[in-house]
Amino acid sequence: MIPLDGAKVNASWTPSGAPKHTWSNSLRSGAGRADRPGHRAGQPACFFRRTIRETDVRILLTEQQIQEGVHRLAEKVNDAYHDRPVTVLAVLTGSIVLLADLIRRLTMPLRVGVVQASSYRGKVTTPGPLTINPELMPDIRDRSVLLVDDIFDTGRTLAALAERLRQWEPTSLQSAVLLRKQGRQEVEYQPDFCAFTIPNVFVVGYGLDYDDQYRNLPYLAAVEESDL
Ligand code: XMP
Repeated sequence: MIPLDGAKVNASWTPSGAPKHTWSNSLRSGAGRADRPGHRAGQPACFFRRTIRETDVRILLTEQQIQEGVHRLAEKVNDAYHDRPVTVLAVLTGSIVLLADLIRRLTMPLRVGVVQASSYRGKVTTPGPLTINPELMPDIRDRSVLLVDDIFDTGRTLAALAERLRQWEPTSLQSAVLLRKQGRQEVEYQPDFCAFTIPNVFVVGYGLDYDDQYRNLPYLAAVEESDL
């Protein structure tokens, strides 16, 4: 399968002097919408900064951009599988929002399962030891499996998970991710489908968390460790 590189998000998305806004009481404010206070006509909304619960973040992908990316991702998966039944296996917990949006755009017969795999703990933003808990998983033997994850960072999580899952002898095993971080990969393994390539920044929203917060943001925001 030819990997889909996905749309590339420009690393220079934060102009100097971008205005700052406080939306602390409005997590689902629909950031990036042109009708919000502070939006300058003709300027992409992703250039604005928001403060969420006292944390200064920058909008990397708006809700609409994410939805368009997920739509493109689903089209690629549909083209690859046609009517072949698929077991969609979502990596908990970051991929649950993507899972919900993605499966509603997939057209083949499918089952949904989840698997627990994590290399980040609590407030730590650097990788810790990888733990995989396959107990929640459906039987994948002789099934075509599509692993779904939120982000391909170093790639260690997905690579290790794919290796482990092959022990259950699925008919085929492919993976789809929303995001791939540029220049971070430490493994040869590559996801088969990817919606966006982003710069090397820590991101939250659309299922991704910092200390289990911000998963409910409908957009993707970049946070700096100094802000946390
Ligand atoms: P690796 O490095 O193994 O990481 O590819 C995969 C898992 O790490 C988490 N991760 C992040 N979570 N913002 C997050 O909220 C990030 O920028 C980020 N980078 C990695 C995530 O759980 C992913 O599945």
